[in-house]
Amino acid sequence: MKRALKTAFVCQQCGHAAPRWLGQCPGCEAWGSLAEEPVGEAGARPRAGGAAPQTLGAVATSDAVRRSTGVGELDRVLGGGLVQGSIVLLGGDPGIGKSTLALQACGALASRGVAVLYVAGEESPEQVRLRADRLGLGTSSVLVLPETAAEAIVEQIERTRPAAVVVDSIQTVHTSALASAPGSVGQVRESAALLVARCKATQTACFLIGHVTKEGALAGPRVLEHLVDTVLYFEGDGAHALRVLRAVKNRFGSTNEVGVFEMGERGLVEVPNPSAAFLAERPKDAAGSAVLATLEGSRPVLVEIQALVSRSSLAMPRRTPIGLDLGRTALLLAVLEKRCRVRLHDQDVFLNVAGGLTVDEPAADLAVVAAVASSARGTALPSDVVLWGEVGLTGEVRSVARADARVREAARQGFRRCILPAGNERGLGGDGGVRVQGVATLAELFAALELA
Ligand code: TYD
Ligand code: MG
Repeated sequence: MKRALKTAFVCQQCGHAAPRWLGQCPGCEAWGSLAEEPVGEAGARPRAGGAAPQTLGAVATSDAVRRSTGVGELDRVLGGGLVQGSIVLLGGDPGIGKSTLALQACGALASRGVAVLYVAGEESPEQVRLRADRLGLGTSSVLVLPETAAEAIVEQIERTRPAAVVVDSIQTVHTSALASAPGSVGQVRESAALLVARCKATQTACFLIGHVTKEGALAGPRVLEHLVDTVLYFEGDGAHALRVLRAVKNRFGSTNEVGVFEMGERGLVEVPNPSAAFLAERPKDAAGSAVLATLEGSRPVLVEIQALVSRSSLAMPRRTPIGLDLGRTALLLAVLEKRCRVRLHDQDVFLNVAGGLTVDEPAADLAVVAAVASSARGTALPSDVVLWGEVGLTGEVRSVARADARVREAARQGFRRCILPAGNERGLGGDGGVRVQGVATLAELFAALELA
């Protein structure tokens, strides 16, 4: 390339600028921290021609114009629909279903007469068409554009004036202002900035699709989080059909909502009753199985925690929690051994959240402890019990938020008994014939479950 590009490679940690890419920053010695950025005139962004400050009281307000995407669970996570001119980053592991979800939303929008542009950077228009046909979507009026140059995409947005645009994916888009490869931090950030500025100016709602690697730390989409209005992550375990859509940032709604989907032959199907889906294959009367009422955002969901305790042949027995935090698991096992005399130091302990969900609230502790104790003793827990509560280092059981919602969900799913922190018990009960039983210590939990 002969054209001189006015760019520099800038360290993302200390700000040191170098004329070319280096593996290690000469300024702060961080590795792999340099990203290309425009400098001087080439990178000069249009200046916001001298706005004058005004009092907040004088600022004109207009309610954000929201439009249903036609996919109920997506609307719920967006905060009640897609806001006109808002930018949504849809992230997740490759293969989780981001393109499928975006295409289904396009179909639903188009079938209600909304103009939609689908920018396909990864797939050919034929592939997009075949998928839309297979999903049985009414996408015939959706504009599809096979393009990866940010300037060209912006030009087409100007020309076609869609109400919503999907860019699949932002990692494939590049701008000629930078010389680095598509997918690099600099390219992703500059291309996205270009798209965001134009979508804001034309009041076009925009979905930017971004791949996130398993580690979650990927240079790409993460650097965009501050640039966009809403960040949604699509999660799930590739081996399972259930998928959870979570808002981690939302300028137009709460981040407490989650949407649950099931990936099937005909795309993503909304799951209106996640608890029933997560408990569908629960074994009856098996040792090592406990039902937890957890909060997914603001929504109570029942999930099964499974534990298997078995004699170890290793000097350092295995602790393998899937869907639960390793450090927290180790803590709970130590508390069980010390306070409840459950012998675990020479046992392998495997834990799993059935259905592929990840649970990271301490309220899961009581169910984890119950499942491990049940497996260690070889005694099944009563099948009509739901548990939750945080466990402390002395074996005390601490209260958690939203106990009332958890009790209601247990009742709705036909359970008869809730075992919960004693501090949460007051004022609860009577809901749909569920008996609530508060426990203040693990000793009381063991007594309640008849685990001697
Ligand atoms: P996709 O939306 O392409 O994932 P992403 O864009 O996040 O990379 O989904 C890919 C996976 O979904 C693929 O493994 C096949 C599966 N799938 C189904 O099971 N059913 C379907 O109807 C579709 C469209 C995809
Ligand atoms: Mg895709």
